[in-house]
Amino acid sequence: MALVQLQGIKKSYQLGKTEVVALKGVDLTIDKGEFTVVMGPSGSGKTTLLNIIGCLDRASAGSYKLDGEEIGHRDFNDLAEVRNRKIGFIFQNFNLIPVLDVVENVEFPCVIRGENRKVLRERTLKIAAEVGLTPYLHHKPDELSGGQRQRVAIARALVTEPQLVLADEPTANLDSTTADQIIDLMLKLNREHGVTFLFSTHDPRVMEHARRVVRIHDGVMADGTEAAKVESDRLHAAAVH
Ligand SMILES: Nc1ncnc2c1ncn2[C@@H]1O[C@H](COP(=O)(O)OP(=O)(O)O)[C@@H](O)[C@H]1O
Ligand SMILES: [Mg+2]
Repeated sequence: MALVQLQGIKKSYQLGKTEVVALKGVDLTIDKGEFTVVMGPSGSGKTTLLNIIGCLDRASAGSYKLDGEEIGHRDFNDLAEVRNRKIGFIFQNFNLIPVLDVVENVEFPCVIRGENRKVLRERTLKIAAEVGLTPYLHHKPDELSGGQRQRVAIARALVTEPQLVLADEPTANLDSTTADQIIDLMLKLNREHGVTFLFSTHDPRVMEHARRVVRIHDGVMADGTEAAKVESDRLHAAAVH
């Protein structure tokens, strides 16, 4: 079953008198439970795409169905409501709150919704254990490594029990070993929780972990696991020689 269905999605930004066209008619379908990587160079439109899918921004044209519901034409209040109910975010810069400890950061989105604290704490401790943060529950972000900070962000994205988790270049600020661990952790959570993941990157190595890769270039999508596989083989060959 499709969770995300984009058709002809366009997005332009006004920069003074010039119009920057960031997405030029993107079609993309993501099924429930999929782990999809959007791969493209810097400036290709990944963040723009994820912000639209994540209801942080609206497309200039096109249709966006989330879980079968057309939401492309909703106003920002409606989109915020959809976002709170259905979507979790993981960012490149982790976006943790420095004065809060690990537990408080993870619980933050649920606390602002007024959730029952006891039920929430149980869920938080369970997720913290799953992402390997149990020894660090009362550490502040500046007492954690980059990989640990991203684990906090992953736990925070999952604590609301979203249908869709969007991760915008979540490994860009991590060394390659840590990046691999973070990807493997997301794959494990995807399998075990059945949460749909959409992950963006410009790092070709990430493709080796993904079951589905879609490529974006200059705001145009080239779907196809086949195309991605060819590219992966090419990069592999290039790395070996
Ligand atoms: N707020 C904005 N205003 C003007 N141009 C923007 C804005 N955000 C992104 N762009 C432009 O849109 C294009 C796609 O950007 P982006 O989605 O951030 O790509 P990526 O995440 O792949 O690096 C780029 O040309 C970028 O400069
Ligand atoms: Mg980006």
